[in-house]
Amino acid sequence: MKKGEIVTNSILKDEYYQVQFYVPEICRETRPGQFVHVKIANLRDRILRRPFSISDVSEDGLLTVVYKVVGEGTKVLAELKPGEVCDLMGPLGNPFSVPAEDEFPVIVAGGYGSAATYLLAERAPTKGVLLLGARSQNDLILTDKFAAAGFDVRTSTNDGSEGYKGFVTELIPQVLEENQGKKIRFYGCGPTPMLLALAKILQDKGYNDGELSLDHLMCCGVGACFACVVKIKDDNPDGWRYARTCKEGPVFKASDVYVGE
Ligand SMILES: Cc1cc2nc3c(=O)[nH]c(=O)nc-3n(C[C@H](O)[C@H](O)[C@H](O)COP(=O)(O)OP(=O)(O)OC[C@H]3O[C@@H](n4cnc5c(N)ncnc54)[C@H](O)[C@@H]3O)c2cc1C
Ligand code: FES
Repeated sequence: MKKGEIVTNSILKDEYYQVQFYVPEICRETRPGQFVHVKIANLRDRILRRPFSISDVSEDGLLTVVYKVVGEGTKVLAELKPGEVCDLMGPLGNPFSVPAEDEFPVIVAGGYGSAATYLLAERAPTKGVLLLGARSQNDLILTDKFAAAGFDVRTSTNDGSEGYKGFVTELIPQVLEENQGKKIRFYGCGPTPMLLALAKILQDKGYNDGELSLDHLMCCGVGACFACVVKIKDDNPDGWRYARTCKEGPVFKASDVYVGE
């Protein structure tokens, strides 16, 4: 556990905030897709930690988390000021594999999934495409940062307020069409229904090296409580087993995700 002093904490866009903690020890070890389990200072319920993907790390020890205010913990986090200190556990979880130089990354993200995949985009030697979907334009975050990192950013919204109107997975066929002959590698992070739809597409099309971050409700964050399980394919008669996302994930191979019969 590390003490993370808040250096900045401000609104990024609408209900999304960006906080930077000074934690050089965690920054040094962080790989894309990993998360920190945060004990939020000043929160009355101080036992339960809240998990957040590590969006970015800097050489001078700043760890960035982008978060949406959804409940009590994130509300209190949004009120913390520079100089206040949270207790951070991490980096936790299985990371994404950074694509090889000859691989063309296609990142499919929903909501804060862009925050969870930004470090991957930054470290990818070949820049690819970000397909970012959300309910409305207020939930499309970090598009400028991905563009600055060299990614071709395409957006979709359910209400048509920005980009393509519809589900983000519907943007995939065109990307495949435009990039024929390239060694495409898929990555994904977002709401569970989106990831299950994406897993099905990748399994049907044979993109077996795709990787998906299945962020699930978490409690202990270290494999002890089984609060965070998801269904992963297995050879048993049911065809699946439960896997703890905090310990065996949050990143899983798309080909291992159980999408039903
Ligand atoms: C590995 C991992 C990485 C995450 N990374 C980020 C991130 O980078 N940015 C970010 O904004 N959030 C992220 N989350 C979700 C974040 O942990 C929750 O939003 C947060 O714990 C909510 O705390 P709260 O006290 O404000 O809300 P609570 O009062 O605990 O919950 C408020 C509402 O949010 C829902 N909720 C809580 N956790 C989740 C979840 N994991 N998925 C869907 N709904 C949830 C609850 O069911 C409830 O409806 C991540 C979760 C995991 C497991
Ligand atoms: S959160 Fe406790 S086992 Fe995963």
